[in-house]
This record gives sequence, structure tokens and C-alpha cells, in this order.
Amino acid sequence: MREDADVIIAGAGGVGREALDACLAAGLAVSGFADDGLAGGRCRGLPVGRPDEAPAGSAYVVGIASPAVRRRLVALLDARGLEPVTVVHPRAIVAPETTLGDGCLVLGGAHVSSSITIGDHCQVHYNATVGHDTVLRDFVTVYPGANVSGSVVLEEDVTVGSGAVVLQGLTVGAGAFVGAGAVVTRDVAPGQVVVGAPARPTHPRS
Ligand SMILES: CC(C)(COP(=O)(O)OP(=O)(O)OC[C@H]1O[C@@H](n2cnc3c(N)ncnc32)[C@H](O)[C@@H]1OP(=O)(O)O)[C@@H](O)C(=O)NCCC(=O)NCCS
Repeated sequence: MREDADVIIAGAGGVGREALDACLAAGLAVSGFADDGLAGGRCRGLPVGRPDEAPAGSAYVVGIASPAVRRRLVALLDARGLEPVTVVHPRAIVAPETTLGDGCLVLGGAHVSSSITIGDHCQVHYNATVGHDTVLRDFVTVYPGANVSGSVVLEEDVTVGSGAVVLQGLTVGAGAFVGAGAVVTRDVAPGQVVVGAPARPTHPRS
């Protein structure tokens, strides 16, 4: 991995490559990827190194959807002295009075509305929408095409699956997972997996 790195993307899988697209579209220079499983190879023409060898002082964004894996990589890279950078694709909309924490990734076509608070290391994937006054705590993932309505709270480590809808004013508890296509009409308990329309619990995620 080059030492003159501007941004290192942690994770060289699908989301990592989407993060690369967002970085390039946003005019950020990317020096390579950090990925244990693919270290020593190349991805999209860039070198893939080991996360525990990533050079201190580089900027990084994690291109992995799993909140748990993202947490592990953030802890490792922060401890090595890398600096998280927030990447917003230029074809995403982030409205006024909305704040994004460190290390966030917002992909093309996402619409993040007004007066939203987004914590650190959150991801809003392509064509997802987040409504006014909503709060995303740290390490939340909103998958492609999901619609999170206004004044919703997504607690830490929540994932909202592709095409799911979370109705206005609801709270989704920490670590919960909203399945693809679900319509959430009630608060979701921490750690709960919900599917269907209206969404109903399946089993706790381990
Ligand atoms: C909800 C989810 C996490 C469950 O995953 P899982 O625990 O591995 O569940 P399984 O695939 O073993 O399915 C268990 C049961 O739930 C059903 N199920 C799974 N996901 C469902 C969903 N989104 N909506 C409705 N039913 C669903 C399955 O059909 C299966 O039913 P069955 O027992 O009657 O056959 C997952 O299916 C999901 O929706 N993930 C989000 C995917 C996504 O949005 N990816 C974006 C990639 S960019």
C-alpha cells in the first residue's frame, strides 16, 4: 500500500468497491484497500494490504456493511493512528441542518433530508431515503432503496434492509435488523430481527 495514501478503504468486497466509486466521484484520491481476506492482491487496480499494517496518518473509510465487522476495523485502524473520513457521493443529497459523523459513507442517489443527525461510521446506501429529524446513532446501515421516515431513531448497529420502510416516529433498538422489504409499524426491540409487512419479529440475532 502506498505511503502517500489519501484514503484507504477498509474492505475490498462489494461495498468496498462502491465506496471506491463514491470516493472517485467525490474527487478523493484512494491509495488502496485494507482487507485481511484479500491482502496481497489487487482490487480495481489498487493494492490490497492488511488492516493491521495500514499506514498511520492515512484517512480511511470502512466499506463493509456489517456493523460488527465495521466496529472491529474502526477500533483497529483508529488504534493505528488512521483518521476516519466521511465520503458522500456527489449525486447523493444531504439537506441543510443535517450533520454526519466521522467515517460515514453515503452512496449515489441517497437522499438524506433536513435536520438529521447521523453518528459515526454510518452507511446510507444508494437510493435510500432518510426523513427529516431522524437520528442514526453510530454504526447504522441503511441498505439500498430503504425508506426511513421522519423523526425515527435508529439506535447503534441497526441495519435496515433493502427496500424496507420504517414509519415515522418509531425507534429501532440497538443491533436490530429490519429485513429486506419489511414495513416497520411499531418500535423494534434491541437485537430483534423483523420481517414482513407489517414487520414482525423472527429471532434474536447472535
Ligand atoms: C431478515 C434477514 C436478515 C434474515 O436472514 P436469515 O436469518 O439468514 O434468514 P433465512 O434466510 O434463514 O430465512 C428464515 C426465514 O425467514 C424468511 N425471510 C428471510 N428474509 C425475509 C424477508 N426479508 N422478508 C420476509 N421473509 C424473510 C425466509 O423465507 C425464511 O422463511 P421459511 O423459514 O419459511 O423458509 C435477511 O433475509 C434479510 O432480509 N437481509 C437483508 C438483505 C439486504 O437487504 N441486503 C442488501 C444487500 S445490498
